[in-house]
Amino acid sequence: MNWVIQENKFCEEQISRMGNRMLCGNGYLGIRGTQEEYRKEQMPAINLAGIYDQVGSGWREPLNAPNVLYTYIAVDGKKYALPETEPLKHRMELDFRHGIFSRETSFRTDRGIVTVRSERFACKDEVHRIAMRYSVTADFHAEIELYTGIDGDVWDIHGPHYDTLVSCEEQGVIRMQGVTHEKGDTVDVLETVAADFPCEQHLVTGEKEILRRIAFVTEIGRSYCIEKTAVVFTSKDRDWDLQRAHGTLREAKAAGYDALKEMHCRKWEEKWAVSEVEIDGDEEAMKSLNYSIYHLLSIAPTHAANMSIPARGLSGQTYKGAVFWDTEMFMLDFFLFTDPDVARSLMKYRVDTLGGAMEKAVFYGYEGAFYAWESQEGGFDACSDYNVTDVFTGRPQRTYFKDKQYHISAAVVYGIMRYTQITGDQSLLQEGGLKTVIECANFYYSLLLKRAVGDCYEIWDVIGPDEYHERVNNNAYTNRMAKFVFQSAAELLKNPEWKARIEQEYPVDELVRRFEDAAAHIYLPKPDKDGIIEQFDGYSHLEDASIDEVRGRLLHEKEYWGGAYGVAAETKVIKQADVVTMLNLFPEEYEPEILKKNWEYYEPRTEHGSSLSSCMYAMLACKCNMPRKAYPFFMNSASADLKDGGREWAGLVYIGGTHPAAAGGAYMTAIEGFGGVSAQDGTVRTAAVLPEGWNRMKFHICCRNIRYAVEIGRQGTNIMEEGNVHSDAL
Ligand code: BGC
Repeated sequence: MNWVIQENKFCEEQISRMGNRMLCGNGYLGIRGTQEEYRKEQMPAINLAGIYDQVGSGWREPLNAPNVLYTYIAVDGKKYALPETEPLKHRMELDFRHGIFSRETSFRTDRGIVTVRSERFACKDEVHRIAMRYSVTADFHAEIELYTGIDGDVWDIHGPHYDTLVSCEEQGVIRMQGVTHEKGDTVDVLETVAADFPCEQHLVTGEKEILRRIAFVTEIGRSYCIEKTAVVFTSKDRDWDLQRAHGTLREAKAAGYDALKEMHCRKWEEKWAVSEVEIDGDEEAMKSLNYSIYHLLSIAPTHAANMSIPARGLSGQTYKGAVFWDTEMFMLDFFLFTDPDVARSLMKYRVDTLGGAMEKAVFYGYEGAFYAWESQEGGFDACSDYNVTDVFTGRPQRTYFKDKQYHISAAVVYGIMRYTQITGDQSLLQEGGLKTVIECANFYYSLLLKRAVGDCYEIWDVIGPDEYHERVNNNAYTNRMAKFVFQSAAELLKNPEWKARIEQEYPVDELVRRFEDAAAHIYLPKPDKDGIIEQFDGYSHLEDASIDEVRGRLLHEKEYWGGAYGVAAETKVIKQADVVTMLNLFPEEYEPEILKKNWEYYEPRTEHGSSLSSCMYAMLACKCNMPRKAYPFFMNSASADLKDGGREWAGLVYIGGTHPAAAGGAYMTAIEGFGGVSAQDGTVRTAAVLPEGWNRMKFHICCRNIRYAVEIGRQGTNIMEEGNVHSDAL
């Protein structure tokens, strides 16, 4: 398979999308696929995981580090840089086997042609380190000035986040430190440069930049190359300080770029040895799927014990760098099957942010744990009450994502239970997971309503996965997930071992009684006479307009479809899989015919306005034995970041970035959908429904500390035990 994606021309309109598509990352930081000479208008970013800042009433968002890759050239005294200078030729590439970005750009000058080439990566073996090689070649005796250093004037959506930026040079290392506005956190970036030609370096400093100026005259056709190594650390990295940063840089410089690249590639190969999925018979699907896996591997917090992944990965500040249900419901399975330590870290983040969830519940007048819809550190909910800007008035629009998307707490429980089932590791439950499940159950219990006449519990005033219909009653997905939470909590509490652990703190028997009663009596809409499950009370009476009709009513291309006045709100058009998501999670509770009828009913009414939607349709189609119908939805998910399209705006709010939930969804569809893999009870099983043209799939999965090689062909499946999973956590 060809592990390279390429872009062979320069297109200014594509700058933002390329930044996402060609992203390199290592879980600690993400480097957008932008050119070294870009300034903040072109959205370059070294986006940092898990550190946030808020300025005034702007949205709290993650930090972009000062741009330590900033580099450009001047030839005969004139600057040549994209996008201002039109290039003669331009090519950029991402080797997604190894997370290596490269570019080659030629400019025509008055006296001849100058070409710059660069290659860079976010080191996978040392996540604080970045390495870059940058070279200049000319077909004449050009007078080159190469500027390279740190640009502190970073791209921010709601910044600027650094109140002060201080820079200095010490023994050949240049350094910039930014101090954040809200909490005075610090971000340090340091870099060192080695040139393969004799040259002098002079410092040039500006208000927000510190650069080296390297001047030389080129021999015709010779390439002049510098190697830059950089280190990034923040005040959140307890075991990092300046001394360690200098030491790391010294070692890296002594080793040289090629050695760093080798170590980095080796680490990537280790990851691929357990993550790659081979598909014999469908090259395009295999490439898209592994490209999706690349993105998941690039943002996996392998360096942390309790960190999660934001909805837009490490591609920038969109969605406030916050963690959504995307992690548990869409990304988790990939990590469970390939790197359970990362899966644990994702779930431990939730367990450790229980305090924030309990505070949120109190704020809204509920009990237990109401997890943040957009979670940042400590479980702080970054979601604004006004999450969309009205395109007509420019005014913020009241949205209820934060107040009413109750299903987030159920996603947390789902993640904890699934982690425990697939890995067999009880330690997460022991270290706070059990309490988390109980508090989530308490939360749903406090949401239950009962009519004076009637014997079932209802949940009112919610937003389900389909966000276009706000504040509805009895959303089927939310109610079923609440039931799952009650069942999970009751099951754990009835286990004598767990009971003994927690009975000092909770009235266990009373809780079991409550949760069992709630699970038995919560209202779940049944299929109607046509087999259709109503998404929420009253959905069936809404206008049955087609998606095209509804789209035709838009007065502005960026108008928000949902909310009080959105074009979809009074119609049956939904944003994303909702009932279908529920059926996908609990297929055994319905006749196969019901699954199929609901798929066929809801699909034409789904706008797929979220990249999360397609995979749910793909997976349910597999469960209905319809691989042909599943296939295009699978490809949509797998190519969410590879192809153009995809929404970049919600109202006037920029929402562009990578789509790790779609990537995770593509993985789940391939392995659990087409491959039919299940492993809940510790035994790996398959029930494959391969799409046309797929002769064979090969991959590895781990379950209960054992790694298996799985090969699924048209003639049958072969599951081979490969040995124990090496893991510190298990
Ligand atoms: C979707 C949510 C999702 C969020 C982040 C929204 O557009 O509707 O379900 O969690 O994006 O990906």
